Amino acid sequence: MPYNYQELASSTLPVEIEMPPGLKEEADYIFSVTYTDPDAMALEEFADATARAIKRDGKDLGVYPPPQGHLGLREFISWELSANRGSEVSSENIFLTSGAGGACQVYVDAFINPGDVVMMDEFCYHGSLNMFLKKGARPCHVSMDQDGLIPEELEKAIQENIKNGDRPKLIYTISVYHNPTGATINLERRKKIVEISNKYEIPIVENESYADFHIDGPELPPAMIGLDSEEGVLHISAFTKLMGCGLRLGFGAFPESARDSLDKVGFGLSPSHLTSMAVHEYLKDNKSAYVSGVASSLGRKRDAMLRSLGEYFPPSCTWTEPKGGMMIWMKLPDGTNTWDVLDKSIEKGVKYNPGPIFRADRGGGNYLRLTFSHHTPDEIEKGISILAEVLESEGVI
Ligand SMILES: Cc1ncc(COP(=O)(O)O)c(C=O)c1O
Repeated sequence: MPYNYQELASSTLPVEIEMPPGLKEEADYIFSVTYTDPDAMALEEFADATARAIKRDGKDLGVYPPPQGHLGLREFISWELSANRGSEVSSENIFLTSGAGGACQVYVDAFINPGDVVMMDEFCYHGSLNMFLKKGARPCHVSMDQDGLIPEELEKAIQENIKNGDRPKLIYTISVYHNPTGATINLERRKKIVEISNKYEIPIVENESYADFHIDGPELPPAMIGLDSEEGVLHISAFTKLMGCGLRLGFGAFPESARDSLDKVGFGLSPSHLTSMAVHEYLKDNKSAYVSGVASSLGRKRDAMLRSLGEYFPPSCTWTEPKGGMMIWMKLPDGTNTWDVLDKSIEKGVKYNPGPIFRADRGGGNYLRLTFSHHTPDEIEKGISILAEVLESEGVI
């Protein structure tokens, strides 16, 4: 008889979250994941950098790495946050994690109790949303538009929660090329959101996972961690989307007053030190050239997807035209449900993300998210033509 592990299961296992099972299936055209653009990866150079790092510093692998991770990479991140994100953060206030998701989990573990209210974007990347849900948090989604989270709506919703005796614990926002809508919070709104955070003493967790993916259009405004003087912003970003999802390398940046709480959860599981060494060795000399190569490739793919959507979808459907990141957010006619037709689409070989996975209340049925990083422009055109065919034959568009 096999052991009964169900009976042995911990009573504190996380809450189960219902997701469309089809998202785990294989498909020919994957528009459902923000994979690293494989056509922009610099494998030879990365292999050389990895070999150099091992030959020079390989004996460092014989001992355990520092609790917050590889110092050279943290110094590089500190330099970059200053040069590119207008934010002065010491390497002492940076910790390396297993992807951006690892940093998000650290903040959830350090600060969230079951039942806590968390202010969130109107739609929120399902990976983060699910982390909060699994811990038993109660997300409160706040309206957004093309400039991201709307500060007036945020303050109104905070006040309502406080009035009901539910003081929100955190404000969680994906502030740059938002997942799933592509919106970036503009400078004026960033300042207002920081002011609101300061006024109610509710920390902001800003997730800047897509800050390296500016394709065209205006430069990004500074990160909120650099706009705040009250130690109210916890920052997340990563190298996964840029260098390789499989590398599982991200980071958090935090104000000194948050150190004790983060220390109590040990800053999460640190990533492989070898990965940190290799990524540091490669990026310290090549980051800006590599980032512009990725932007050119993503620009071609974005344009191919926009062209194909224009060609194959009817005027009753609308979509965003993102200036960065790797996704397009589509609105279909009211009353449709993209969750229900996902399986039909997968049968024909195309995977997308239905809108409701980005909301705790599973609203947003007439939205879907398409990512454009993984396939070539020709494959994108083919996949989009199939998707339009499926949605048409199912009576959705
Ligand atoms: C906003 C955001 N945060 C975190 C993640 C998870 O990224 P990682 O692979 O770096 O853990 C993603 C991946 O799609 C994301 O879009």
